[in-house]
Amino acid sequence: MKKIGIAVTDPSDWTAAALRNAIKHFGMEPVSFRLSRATSNIASGKMHADNIDLTSLDAVIVRDMGPATRGDAAFRFDLLCHLEELGIRVINPPESIAKAANKHASSFLFQKNGILTPRTVATSDPDEALSVLSSFGGAVVKPVFGYKGIGVERLKNDGSGARRLKELLDKDGMVYLQEFIPNPGRDIRVFVVDNKIAGSIYRIAPAGGWINNLSQGGFSKPCLLTEEQKSLGLKASEAIGTVYAGVDIIEGDRDYVIEINGTPSGKGIFEACGVDVTRDIAEYLCRSINR
Ligand SMILES: Nc1ncnc2c1ncn2[C@@H]1O[C@H](COP(=O)(O)OP(=O)(O)O)[C@@H](O)[C@H]1O
Ligand SMILES: [Mg+2]
Repeated sequence: MKKIGIAVTDPSDWTAAALRNAIKHFGMEPVSFRLSRATSNIASGKMHADNIDLTSLDAVIVRDMGPATRGDAAFRFDLLCHLEELGIRVINPPESIAKAANKHASSFLFQKNGILTPRTVATSDPDEALSVLSSFGGAVVKPVFGYKGIGVERLKNDGSGARRLKELLDKDGMVYLQEFIPNPGRDIRVFVVDNKIAGSIYRIAPAGGWINNLSQGGFSKPCLLTEEQKSLGLKASEAIGTVYAGVDIIEGDRDYVIEINGTPSGKGIFEACGVDVTRDIAEYLCRSINR
């Protein structure tokens, strides 16, 4: 029986549990491990985590990379790349997880591939940052490696915005600034698996809010995509190279892709629509390793 590693932080998380069930459903054996417990022994070539010999796995699904500092993030990424070098299928491919996690890198790739995305500037230059704040008429600022809406702020084009910009530049050495897209108080999360649309939800911010992440109190509702929105989801996934992804779209004067998540949760779409994206992921994996 094929042994499929699942890299998790919390084994009881909905998506981790659903992935285990989906893997069993397709006749494979799930084995959960934490990248935060990984060891790589260079001389022996052994790699293990939570007493699991990672080199003995047939494939790995990365549910999440786990909270990390700069050093251990690089270690976890390298470890996944080394497993790939040994011929072990890793999904998402670590390169794509890295590109998706990095908002500057993904914005660049959206633009390069003709995917409509809000005007965005990343800069380490304080004068440049101020001039962008003014030209955008205020801005949304986001941590370049952020997730779950944490640290996403709206800055006004005034003294308070300028002071906050300076604080962020002093703290992080750079800022990622984006124009705010006026929208109907919701965004769209499109799930793409194996270059096909697996489902989609609206995410609606709590009253008075504008950050629609479910982990920030937003709730989900079923969503029917337009052809344009389907195409944006597919193109974004292809540009980043993900096997499965959650693509965030905001409906402004036009539809804009704001970001892509390479380790998305499947819980919101299951609760809103009964669509279990982990089935699509496990089915894809089963097909691709038995090929
Ligand atoms: N440019 C923008 N204009 C309007 N709302 C935005 C913009 N960027 C982000 N948001 C809101 O903030 C949320 C979080 O931003 P996002 O870029 O998806 O970061 P995260 O990785 O933290 O989810 C989005 O889901 C959306 O609701
Ligand atoms: Mg998001």
